[in-house]
Amino acid sequence: DEKILYQEDDDFKKLITSLPREKGWRVPDIYQFQGFWYHSLMLNCFFESQKHFEAQDSDIVLATFPKCGTTWLKALVFTIVNRKKHSPFSQEHPLLTSNPHAIVRSLEFDIFLPNRTPDLSSLTTPGIVATHSNFGLLANSILETKCRIIYLCRNPKDTFISYFHYAKKSRFNYYEGISSIEEGVDMFCKGMIPCGPIWNHVLDYWKASLDSPDKIFFVTYEELQSEPVSMLRRMADFLGYSFSDEEEESGMVDAIVKLCSFEKLSNLKVNVDGKAGYGLEYKHYFRKGGVGDWKNHLTNEMVERMDAVVEEKLQGSGLME
Ligand code: A3P
Repeated sequence: DEKILYQEDDDFKKLITSLPREKGWRVPDIYQFQGFWYHSLMLNCFFESQKHFEAQDSDIVLATFPKCGTTWLKALVFTIVNRKKHSPFSQEHPLLTSNPHAIVRSLEFDIFLPNRTPDLSSLTTPGIVATHSNFGLLANSILETKCRIIYLCRNPKDTFISYFHYAKKSRFNYYEGISSIEEGVDMFCKGMIPCGPIWNHVLDYWKASLDSPDKIFFVTYEELQSEPVSMLRRMADFLGYSFSDEEEESGMVDAIVKLCSFEKLSNLKVNVDGKAGYGLEYKHYFRKGGVGDWKNHLTNEMVERMDAVVEEKLQGSGLME
């Protein structure tokens, strides 16, 4: 229950009451801060992480908009980076018995929500952490050190459908939330989805990745689906963990793709009946795991409206090509 875990200080309470407020999806309210909409709890954790997170040069930050494939990215990067210690061929691999969220922690929910002054030395080396923060709220240390960022994004309509289903299953304390897909589409198009507008979240990281390609690797869910092996090679190169010829010959890259696949992870016992510390069932992180499910849920009218707004916001960025 978030109320037990979470205590706001007075300055934060004052700030929150001064911000524009809208109906939330999973908890009653979302607030607009510097152009982005957040649950108050999330915003507070971003501030804490901004103040206290001291990234190390060797750290890896996985940044995503919610529902773009964070679970998958956590599994892939953990496996790439730790393959010497935990062989992806092994039947003892940690991913076979632990959910990716239990292995790679989120800066907000796992690190700064339960404890404002967490012991960061307990992070593995290199530390891999995940965040849904927009680029502008990242801790300075993330930008000032040599730590690397991988940003994962996804087709906005698939992201919306995924979030809509997830929000329905994961509401807090019987909160009713967004009740119909029509209402969800409307909120989405106004940018009022937690961490949204999605186009601004994506654009800021996209621009930063063009400016600093050695610092930020920008990848899409669709690329990971259509060319997993070459994307994994590129990610490993970017992180400084390139696959050797020997590893390539052993089928290592394929083994990682298979181990981290939706089919494999979603059927493991831990992901079928396990729960996160904060009570969320791991199975809610696995729904369909494909590309284009929006076609099964959205009317032509909804599609036109969503496409128009996304195209308008992203035009000229090079992201639509
Ligand atoms: P769908 O709801 O479209 O199925 P996140 O991890 O950021 O919360 O995103 C969740 C989305 O990623 C869900 O999408 C989920 O099914 C999908 N997903 C989870 N694990 C995956 C994996 N190993 N491979 C591909 N997609 C995965």
